[in-house]
Amino acid sequence: MRQILVVAILIATAIGWPAPPRAATPDANAPGPATPEASSSDIDGETMFATSCGWCHQQGGRAAGRGPKLAGDKKSDDALIDRIKRGKPGAMPAFGRAFSDGQIIAILAYIRSLDDAGN
Ligand code: HEC
Repeated sequence: MRQILVVAILIATAIGWPAPPRAATPDANAPGPATPEASSSDIDGETMFATSCGWCHQQGGRAAGRGPKLAGDKKSDDALIDRIKRGKPGAMPAFGRAFSDGQIIAILAYIRSLDDAGN
């Protein structure tokens, strides 16, 4: 009996019941439809970095390894994105096919979240 109740609750939750209350009138001051924007929280740049980049860019990009330290990198966003997408023959693999643009932005956001001291 208890199991049936649990299953019923799970199904109800899955179909979104009880429905959340809807705002009666749209807020005139509300911003328009949100522009999809990648952030390190909706696509986890830190995790992607740890799995794909961390073995060369040590300590999550905070220290040099096979690749340079990325924390506090002074180059432009475009330069970093270009390097991530195209890599460098013989030094760093290209990730332009492995990751979507949004994912690369999320990885860049993660790199930019590290300060020069690597905190
Ligand atoms: C096989 C080792 C390796 C892997 C894996 C790797 N890199 Fe690199 N990376 C390098 C090396 C080596 C360089 C230096 C290339 C050069 O001489 O410009 C570099 C350079 C860079 C630069 C340019 C830094 C600068 O100031 O010019 C960025 C940004 C970067 N890597 C990001 C990443 C990201 C993000 C990933 C994962 C998606 C990654 N790398 C994976 C080895 C690696």
